[in-house]
Order: sequence, then C-alpha cells, then structure tokens
Amino acid sequence: MRTRDQLVVWMAIGLVALSAVWALRTPPASRPTPSHSAPPTLPAGTIPLVTGDEPIADVFTRAGCSVCHIIPGIPGANGRVGPPLVLGTTGLERLTDPGYHGNAQTVHDYIVESVLEPQQFVVHGYPEHTMPNWYGSKLSALALEKIALYLTRQTEADLSP
Ligand code: HEC
Repeated sequence: MRTRDQLVVWMAIGLVALSAVWALRTPPASRPTPSHSAPPTLPAGTIPLVTGDEPIADVFTRAGCSVCHIIPGIPGANGRVGPPLVLGTTGLERLTDPGYHGNAQTVHDYIVESVLEPQQFVVHGYPEHTMPNWYGSKLSALALEKIALYLTRQTEADLSP
C-alpha cells in the first residue's frame, strides 16, 4: 500500500517535470515578442501609387511618410520613428558626415537617394532597415521631385516648439 502511494507521488512528479520540459522546449527567439518592441513596418501593399499631381500634403500623407517622420507644414506628420525631415538644416551635415559614402553631391540628391536607397546611409541614432526600401515603385518621378524640393526648404526653425 505504502509503495503504491509512493509510486503515485513519483509518477505525479514525473508528469510535472515532463510538462515543464515541454513548456521550456520552445527557444526564446521563437516566442512572440511584445508588440511595443517590434519594429514598425509599413507594408508596401497599403501604399497607393503617388503621382505627384496631389497637393504636397497628400503626397507625404498618401506615401505614409507622416507615420514615421515629423515634416514641418504637413498636418498630421508627427511620426517619431525616423528623424524630423528638416534637410534645409541637416542635409549638409549628412553629406559631410565621415560615414556617408553615398553618391549625392547636393542636399536635393541626398533626399532622393534617402528615399530610393535608404540603406546607403543610416542616420545616427535611428533604426536601420526601417525606412521602406520600395518607394522607387510607389513614387512617380514628379512626386519624388516635389518631395525633394519641399524637404530641401524645411529647416529646424520651421519645427513647431
Ligand atoms: C516605417 C517608417 C518610415 C517611413 C514610412 C518613411 N521613413 Fe524615412 N526614415 C525612417 C527612418 C527610421 C530613417 C532613419 C534611418 C535611415 O537613415 O534609414 C529615415 C530616414 C529618412 C531620410 C533621411 C533623413 C535625414 O535626416 O538624413 C529621409 C530624407 C526620409 N527618411 C524621407 C522619407 C520620405 C520622403 C518618406 C515617404 C515617401 C519616408 N521617409 C517614409 C523611417 C521611415
């Protein structure tokens, strides 16, 4: 009788140990990460083709730039994932950064390059592989030109306090 009880106890302990091993068997990397630590993404399928015939605010809003960037003068553009787009102030700093090895010679061309090939230069303190790399297929040449012209003119002084 006593050995039977003991057997039951040991079997129960065994079961608990087994289920613990089962639960821990999942490697940490494959456990779902809390959503706040997941990098923000903007699926290409959610963005329409931007022709450049839209008013400038719509160009930025439709392209989704506003989700990640503060852009002076563009209502609702208050994203904080990427740097504020005040290239009139920051553009020359980027071009003269010792870490900049892109092909642009002017701030205008740096903006175009940043939109089409964001991996060319990752602004210090901001995440890489976050700025979408598919804008070349979503922005017409006109839309891209309007974006570059507009952003070249924005300075830190244009940021609301
Ligand atoms: C999902 C977030 C996200 C979206 C959407 C996005 N960006 Fe960015 N962008 C970033 C991040 C993060 C950086 C900084 C890292 C880097 O340089 O790649 C960045 C960098 C830039 C830079 C370089 C800025 C600097 O100070 O040197 C420009 C210009 C830019 N983005 C323009 C745009 C434009 C225009 C759009 C819309 C057509 C856009 N971005 C959409 C996240 C985003």
